[in-house]
Amino acid sequence: MSSQIIDETIQGQATLMDAPLENSGKRLYLESYGCAMNFADSEVVASILQGAGYSTTINEAEADVIMINTCSIRDRAEQSVRTRLRAFKTRKKSQPDLIIGVLGCMAERLKKEFLEEEKLVDLVAGPDSYRDLPNLIEQVEGGQKAVNVLLSRDETYADISPVRLAKDGVSAFVSITRGCDNMCSFCVVPFTRGRERSRNPLSIVAESRELFENGYREVTLLGQNVNSYRWNISKKGEIQDESIPTTNFGKLLEMVAKISPDLRIRYSTSHPKDMTDDVLHTMAKYKNICDYIHLPVQSGNSEILKKMNRGYSREWYLDRINAIQTILPGATISTDIITGFCGETEEQHQETLSLIENVKFSFAFMYFYSERPKTLAERKYQDDVSLEIKKRRLAEVIKLQHKHQLEYNTKAIGRVYEVLIERVSKKSDEMFSGRNTYNSTIVFPREGYNIGEYVNVLVEECTTLTLKGRIVKA
Ligand code: SAH
Ligand code: SF4
Ligand code: F3S
Repeated sequence: MSSQIIDETIQGQATLMDAPLENSGKRLYLESYGCAMNFADSEVVASILQGAGYSTTINEAEADVIMINTCSIRDRAEQSVRTRLRAFKTRKKSQPDLIIGVLGCMAERLKKEFLEEEKLVDLVAGPDSYRDLPNLIEQVEGGQKAVNVLLSRDETYADISPVRLAKDGVSAFVSITRGCDNMCSFCVVPFTRGRERSRNPLSIVAESRELFENGYREVTLLGQNVNSYRWNISKKGEIQDESIPTTNFGKLLEMVAKISPDLRIRYSTSHPKDMTDDVLHTMAKYKNICDYIHLPVQSGNSEILKKMNRGYSREWYLDRINAIQTILPGATISTDIITGFCGETEEQHQETLSLIENVKFSFAFMYFYSERPKTLAERKYQDDVSLEIKKRRLAEVIKLQHKHQLEYNTKAIGRVYEVLIERVSKKSDEMFSGRNTYNSTIVFPREGYNIGEYVNVLVEECTTLTLKGRIVKA
């Protein structure tokens, strides 16, 4: 499988989101690109616009407003959005009062281009300005272009109850932090999403509890670096208000885990520099916190990691892996890799391969480096590894990773796992698809069970990405 396919299916994919039509007012068509945080934000947008009388539709043709929630992480992600916008612009010729809006991470960077140069859109709203959307739409209806890309230091949308757009009703995203302060030199996120801020823990627990009461059985706590979650603790570690409790990520995990043993907890993304043992101990204590950690390494070479401004070395990363394996024996670990970062030599690339060999990740998102405007790397380093070499190194990384994935999945054959049934399989109506605690997707015949139930599944076959089996009685 090529990197592009991985890129397309996981982090660059457009997903149509649907919610029941609840009134006969105006219709919103929402298309989302990028990471889980963007998908979670689209649910906040749907909620805000529902309050303004809009219902969502998956049928683009019946929309009064089209919003596209964009991603800037790599050049390819931005190109797919441009292609879509041009298609929408063509639509507008036959429906002149159609409103087209750009939301999310491309908004800040490209507002001028979208509004003025290419005149592709009517409205541009950055990730922290979604409360303003009803006003912005009004402005457009009044004949103006509308833009709000202000980034905030405190907006977390804590009080907004997201409209759940994914249809399964079993698994939901819950945002716990916004923005990012890490300034990894390759990354555009600090520029598109602004400063890191944490959301009130009580609102996180209340949202998770409400999900559970509505039949959901899994929440994924989201942030660019969940381990730096802090409430009532300053960046230096001081208590800000003596009268209220402090909450770090480990404590937050525990608060959510206590809602019910039947509610599974996942989280994404962990940053290796901030991954502490206390979080691992909390995971070990609660069976409903899944034994799976996504721990992006990016490179296996300490010098490249330093240039990436990741704040850890190869040795530090391997020490964290060791801590996970000691405190949570059997837990699976997945990662993100970038090949061909500025100045990466063949030897440094070999160190990435050797780290992959050493850790044996269960899964990885793999990319070649794509220079992003404004980032430290763009300003400081030469993007001097040729595209050909970047791609060749990526192909080597993918080949090794897929070999490990197949070995890992093969070991699952003959084992029985508890699986949460999440949906009907995309490939067959007769089959369900769900995951075990280790985040492996397992497909199996339905046999009269229902979405949202836990079942025990015996694994009988596998591919690089999926396990296949059948339900067995406990
Ligand atoms: N906050 C997460 C990552 C968010 S971005 C973390 O720090 O781990 C998701 C992934 O996209 C990153 O882990 C990285 O592997 C990849 N990525 C980010 N910027 C990139 C760039 N400029 N070129 C290629 N891949 C990039
Ligand atoms: Fe980007 Fe680094 Fe923040 Fe992740 S931690 S979002 S890679 S700056
Ligand atoms: Fe993309 Fe923004 Fe997420 S750049 S990966 S949508 S934070």
